[in-house]
Amino acid sequence: MSSYDIISLNDFIIRQQKDFPYARGELSSLLHHIGTAAKMVNAKIRKAGLVEILGRAGAENPQGEDQQKLDRYADEVFIDALQASGECCGVASEENQNEVVFTEEFAARGKYIVCIDPLDGSSNIDYNVSVGSIFSIYRRVTERDAESGIADFLQPGSKQVAAGYVIYGSSTMLVYTTGNGVNGFTLDPTIGEFCLSHPSMKTPSKGRIYSINEGNYIKFPDGVKRYIKYCQENDPATGRPYISRYIGSLVSDVHRNLLTGGIFLYPPSIIYPSGKLRLVYECNPISFIIEQAGGVATDGRNRILTISPGSLHQRSPFYCGSPEMISQLVGMCC
Ligand code: AHG
Ligand code: MN
Ligand code: MN
Repeated sequence: MSSYDIISLNDFIIRQQKDFPYARGELSSLLHHIGTAAKMVNAKIRKAGLVEILGRAGAENPQGEDQQKLDRYADEVFIDALQASGECCGVASEENQNEVVFTEEFAARGKYIVCIDPLDGSSNIDYNVSVGSIFSIYRRVTERDAESGIADFLQPGSKQVAAGYVIYGSSTMLVYTTGNGVNGFTLDPTIGEFCLSHPSMKTPSKGRIYSINEGNYIKFPDGVKRYIKYCQENDPATGRPYISRYIGSLVSDVHRNLLTGGIFLYPPSIIYPSGKLRLVYECNPISFIIEQAGGVATDGRNRILTISPGSLHQRSPFYCGSPEMISQLVGMCC
């Protein structure tokens, strides 16, 4: 590949903009600023052991979970970048109880709102296990000369105009969709650019990996228990059981399964009777990407993207991945 075969994220965004006849560059600008924030968070993560960024921030997030220093740093970086874009009028974040409304004239009239999980997989940060960031973009439903309001942030996932994640793994990748398929970009640290490395990502219809925290097995719904046992019996197609892989970082587990084929499950549990994952800034963006890659995402009964959120931090049971595996699970659950 010659050095000029590289397609940077910005090149790609501009080329894709041509597919939207009415696009005037606002979404492109927003995506560009998200890419910049991702590079800043990446730079901090890549030297986490050397700078005062590991460990707890000494506060709790709106869910009463210990906030890590990197949670707070990533939250600030993404919110500042979204405000600076001038295209976003407000942000809902895992790290803030309420939506952050931008009141400065420059941003208050922004056409979009963004929901973020600024750092996903926080429990892994101090142990050098891969983590991620997740974003979800909607057109605002409130009038542009008014301040953004909660209605902007409680739209069903089917209204997303874009969604993506960054995975800070063995390499750093940004994977996103605007509803025209899924494309993955790998950060080339030598030039500081996200470069197209995984065009038109599609997930296999079936795989051999199942991802679930089996520590919660006792309280799983019976259908999920039956499915886990099914995975542990010999798969007729291979004469071998499935493979259990679970990192405890949603972005990392989903990214691996998206590429290889597999199923991710976070059912209701003792601690989280409605499931642990948050609908607005984890399940919805991941579901948009999974569906655009040919997969399925459900709460066990409903397509995730049809659920209308009742609150910003609402949790949901979450099952996503290869369509044949989801259908096998749902057939055992209900
Ligand atoms: P976050 O760090 O943003 O709170 O997300 C953590 C989530 C998700 O990344 C992962 O799939 C899940 O928590 C793991 O939960 P368990 O440790 O209960 O398995
Ligand atoms: Mn998360
Ligand atoms: Mn998080």
